[in-house]
Amino acid sequence: MSVSPPSAERGKPAPIIGVSEADLNRAAEVIARGGLVAIPTETVYGLAADATNDRAVARIFEAKGRPSFNPLIAHVDSVEMASQLAIVSDVARRLMDQFWPGPLTLVLPRRTDSPIGTRASASLDTIAVRHPKSPAAIGIISRIGRPLAAPSANLSEQVSPTRADHVADGLGDRIDLILDGGPCEAGVESTIVKVDETGVTLLRPGALSRQDIEEVVGPLSAPGETSEITAPGMMKRHYAPRAKLRLNATDVHPGEAFLAFGPPPEGVAATLSLSTAGDLEEAAHNLFAMMRTLDSTHAAIAVAPIPDKGLGEAINNRLTRAAARFTKNGV
Ligand code: TXA
Ligand code: MG
Repeated sequence: MSVSPPSAERGKPAPIIGVSEADLNRAAEVIARGGLVAIPTETVYGLAADATNDRAVARIFEAKGRPSFNPLIAHVDSVEMASQLAIVSDVARRLMDQFWPGPLTLVLPRRTDSPIGTRASASLDTIAVRHPKSPAAIGIISRIGRPLAAPSANLSEQVSPTRADHVADGLGDRIDLILDGGPCEAGVESTIVKVDETGVTLLRPGALSRQDIEEVVGPLSAPGETSEITAPGMMKRHYAPRAKLRLNATDVHPGEAFLAFGPPPEGVAATLSLSTAGDLEEAAHNLFAMMRTLDSTHAAIAVAPIPDKGLGEAINNRLTRAAARFTKNGV
């Protein structure tokens, strides 16, 4: 029996529902029929579709305006489900046992009999797998019994959404349903590591700190300049606000809003602090939402220096990429 996928009618906003059992049932039904549903995870909101349905996966790329060469993460609800998609080495297994469910994505060799189509994995011989922690995400995967392909639920190159209304602003008229599970706990995307015979390489700093991973597997490698591009989406400008960003700012220029870390400075009209206590986890949680707020009112934002340790590495990575179009080499 062929069931036609639900079609998001352009201009008609997707319904926003909660994360009750009935809501998760409805979301699972929409996804099982090939639809697109924005779901909360512990990192950021994801735009989910059945990873084994190539037509549904194609709709993700279309809705986001995402280039087809940029692969998607397959979200699973167990190590067993991951093992059907990827070859799980001993080192990969150790990382899964330690950090799953949670904000760690592993790029692993793709199994030749993987049920995930080449569109989701952008024809690479690797696949990114992640077991999210949020009960809503896990609940949907378990209901349909198949992995979910889910990039962050924003238009390509824009700031990732950490609240349901952020999703509605960017994609509301292009998708079928939005689940509102409240603000995401971590606020930055998962950490991505590639595990292969050369070791464990950090492809994207994220919500799980480098230090936590290194405690389990030792020092992480950095992607080599000559190696094949291992995270296609990582190389370009990303997370772009409209406003001009000035990083490591210790003063505020006329017309700029200020994004502080620590107590907000006196005498600056438009200022928000990522964390008045100087806590990096709180800063990561607030980063994207505060960037959106200041971006909606100001054409220029100065950002205080953020220490590069712990979650500061992920925060600085996102800030640097958000500012990239204003540097000489920015794309
Ligand atoms: O926290 C997260 O990771 C969120 C939530 C929704 O799970 N997802 C997310 O997905 O950030 P996305 O698509 O916005 O970013 C995933 C990154 C992209 O830069 C993509 O290039 C990279 O993962 N990626 C996916 N598959 C890959 C692969 N096989 N090899 C290398 N990089 C890969
Ligand atoms: Mg993204």
